[in-house]
Amino acid sequence: MTNFTFTQNDYQRFADENDVTLSAVGPMSRDAFLDLLVETVNNEDVPFPIPREKRQPYIDAYVAGELFCIGEFSDETVDLKEFAHSQDYDQYTFEEHLSWACLVAQQQKTKHEFACREYLQGEALFEIGSAMIPNYWLLNARIFQQTGWQLATVKEIIPAELFFTCHSRRFFPVTTFMRPLGVDYLEEPDIGHDVAGHVATFTIPAVANVMQNHGRARDLIYDRRDRELNGVTDPAQIEAIKLRADQLLAYAGRIYWFTVEFGLVMQDGEVRDFGAGILSSPGETKYSIQNDESNRILIDPREDADLLRLANTDYMISEFQKTYFVSESFDRLDTITPQRILDASERAMSLPDFTWREIVPGDRVLNVGSIATSVNEKYFRLMAGQTMDECLKRTAIGNLKMYADGFDRELLKQFRTAPPELPDQALQWYRDVNSADDKTS
Ligand SMILES: [Fe+2]
Repeated sequence: MTNFTFTQNDYQRFADENDVTLSAVGPMSRDAFLDLLVETVNNEDVPFPIPREKRQPYIDAYVAGELFCIGEFSDETVDLKEFAHSQDYDQYTFEEHLSWACLVAQQQKTKHEFACREYLQGEALFEIGSAMIPNYWLLNARIFQQTGWQLATVKEIIPAELFFTCHSRRFFPVTTFMRPLGVDYLEEPDIGHDVAGHVATFTIPAVANVMQNHGRARDLIYDRRDRELNGVTDPAQIEAIKLRADQLLAYAGRIYWFTVEFGLVMQDGEVRDFGAGILSSPGETKYSIQNDESNRILIDPREDADLLRLANTDYMISEFQKTYFVSESFDRLDTITPQRILDASERAMSLPDFTWREIVPGDRVLNVGSIATSVNEKYFRLMAGQTMDECLKRTAIGNLKMYADGFDRELLKQFRTAPPELPDQALQWYRDVNSADDKTS
């Protein structure tokens, strides 16, 4: 990996390119910060005032030099185990603060053009757009006061089970790492994604509810898993029960992906961004709404068939999305309950998947992307040995396996309109390939 060494001139260039005032970059003094923290913590003119008895201990902990690990304003907590971490704020370098300042300045330009109203209001409340990395002691207090959510500091990306446990208790896991100066896109989450992308979304009640409901859906899935495991001693059966629970969580994760991370919403007759995955990337913020390449599909989250459409759509994280789902309104998004997430995930497990490039019969299409493929194209490409992205390939193979293993086609009626029948020759091809493999192995 190349190590870049930046000079003062480079700093000035980055600042100029992003309309950042270099002299404003960096943390405020500890005394000024303490004054602000005391004033904030004691603010009662907020939706969720901090309990009086929790205020002074919180301030005392900061004064004593403790590092922020997890919020303690509610009666809930969560055991982060080996993923627990803390934010050592004084360790951030000037370059890291400048990286933050440049990223949020870039984000602000596109957010103000394409983000929904509520998201922009949330950013203003948390002062996300300032030229210093947010100090979690202050940010956690502000988030709690507006939403009842709190921060939990983690080392790295955490397992889905723990991630959603945090959600069910209104904790949002955040990393402390800031991407290097000049780096636009990272697959791993950093503060630029976790804080500059997600945090403002908590102020949209429907989005906060969907996030918590995903956590509660996880609770339903694992409570049932634990009941099913009760008294079972056969290792194979134990493994199967655990696997099914993990698979269900993965299907539920798609609903989360296409709403909380990459969701769009209709507002005043226009498509607007609210997904944190989109809004943490200035490029994707614009792309998701204006590009002709990807599909944009209108959904009504009150409809079970639309939730199923999300749960049955595969995606990749390595590039801009190829299909975006646009919720008709936040009110409708608010109907995604834990039970509905669980029901959609269970049905999705027994049905064929769609790829992230497909337009499906029954879709209400706002834009047919230039990358759109037909539902059967993935099978023909596979048979012809043509290159295709990983999402098409794994979906084609996964679906063929499902059909070859004996698939109840009546289940297809679960979709709003059943997708086209699998081409017979594709199934025959799959069987031939697999029987040839069997003979050679
Ligand atoms: Fe995220």
